[in-house]
Amino acid sequence: MQPSMLETPQAAPLSIADLPRHAGGTATLKGWLYHKRSGGKIRFLVVRDGSGYLQCVVSKAEVSPEIWEAADRVAQESSVEVQGTVRADSRAPGGVEMTLTNLRILHQGEPWPITPKEHGVDFLMSQRHLWLRSAKQVAILKVRSEVESAIHDFFHERGFTRVDSPILTPNACEGTTNLFETAYTEEESAYLSQSGQLYLEPAAAALGKVYCFGPTFRAEKSKTRRHLREFWMVEPEVAFLEIDGLMALAEDFVRSLVSRVLDRRAEDLKRLERDVALLHATASKPFARISYREAIDILSKKGFPVKFGDDLGGDEETALTEGFDTPVLVTRYPAAIKSFYMQPDPEDPELALGLDMLAPEGYGEIIGGSQRIHDHDLLLSRVNQHQLPVEAFQWYLDIRKYGTFPHSGFGMGLERFVAWVCGVPHLRECIPYPRMLYRIYP
Ligand code: 4AD
Ligand code: MG
Repeated sequence: MQPSMLETPQAAPLSIADLPRHAGGTATLKGWLYHKRSGGKIRFLVVRDGSGYLQCVVSKAEVSPEIWEAADRVAQESSVEVQGTVRADSRAPGGVEMTLTNLRILHQGEPWPITPKEHGVDFLMSQRHLWLRSAKQVAILKVRSEVESAIHDFFHERGFTRVDSPILTPNACEGTTNLFETAYTEEESAYLSQSGQLYLEPAAAALGKVYCFGPTFRAEKSKTRRHLREFWMVEPEVAFLEIDGLMALAEDFVRSLVSRVLDRRAEDLKRLERDVALLHATASKPFARISYREAIDILSKKGFPVKFGDDLGGDEETALTEGFDTPVLVTRYPAAIKSFYMQPDPEDPELALGLDMLAPEGYGEIIGGSQRIHDHDLLLSRVNQHQLPVEAFQWYLDIRKYGTFPHSGFGMGLERFVAWVCGVPHLRECIPYPRMLYRIYP
């Protein structure tokens, strides 16, 4: 496109979302043609600009032949400038409609590849850069952005300091099976971070209450709807907080985020046809809490062949949350199936003071966390038991030598949370550009 076609606007361009304030007057705005309907001597052009959707009514009797011709010719997703009178209309999506007086096609788009017919997921994924414009994807991205802001607000309102953890790390944090390795120098490898936790623990000794929020990498080798290879994780870490306080923090956090989305993104949830009944329950009721042992009992009664010591998979998580209308907090897992750093339960050292939060409706684990081992020698013995290289963890062990302190934290996968809140079963639609096994384009 030639630069002259994109004129510099005199003032900040008007957004569709601002139009209700202009009802009764005239307005000019720019956007893209979302879709078009024709009927006799009238054309309906729906224009979108990211802030909303605006139906523009073009009547043959009221516009010049050139504008009528442009209204006929303009192709889906062309960039356009529309001008007209703004009319309040309670049936219209944003509360207003426009009677069009002028239409400029800024760029006539080539035939839009994403048609209303059903497309396979592989096709849509290969068109992700265009698919982002569809109403459902726009709504999901708006919810995601709201959640991101709500996360920062939640922690800042409670006196947390944001501490950015590194992405290039010298060793694994959450096991070695799904590590991304990259060359750091000619002699040395680095690994993309699987979690900022280990770096937050020392920061908690400096600042008390801290959190990090950034991209996280796991070279997942299977394709599931719940796993991405690059995802965003938010992780708080709190000095002198123990497992009960951690449960309260996780519950308060999730309730606050859900309330914020219900409050500010109701339009988007409606567009996603989300049944919000259980989200309202989550926003207003105490969450269910069960121990891992109780979970095993519940699952056995439901016919699952599980016994103490088994890890819980996706199907088990779904079955566990059936019958609850809030997320379920599961605590006190067998230490053997959890990470090396988890504090043992003083009442039963076979158990770890770990916590998982399972979302209702089959969305599975959204939060994983624990109280951390604060005793130096116990942590050292766990490092050895897990056959981790002590030298690499020396700095992490050091924290337990200089004023050690009980502390706890958790991690929440942003896409897991957004998928549940939006009622979208697959995480791939909950991040702008998903990275999955066999998919890194676009
Ligand atoms: O349970 P995880 O592995 O816990 C940790 O990494 C801890 N170090 C966090 C902490 O205590 N600070 O991961 C935490 C959360 C999961 O509950 C899930 O929501 C998300 O991260 N997650 C994934 N999300 C998308 N794709 C994946 N492959 C994910 N793996 C974990
Ligand atoms: Mg986990």
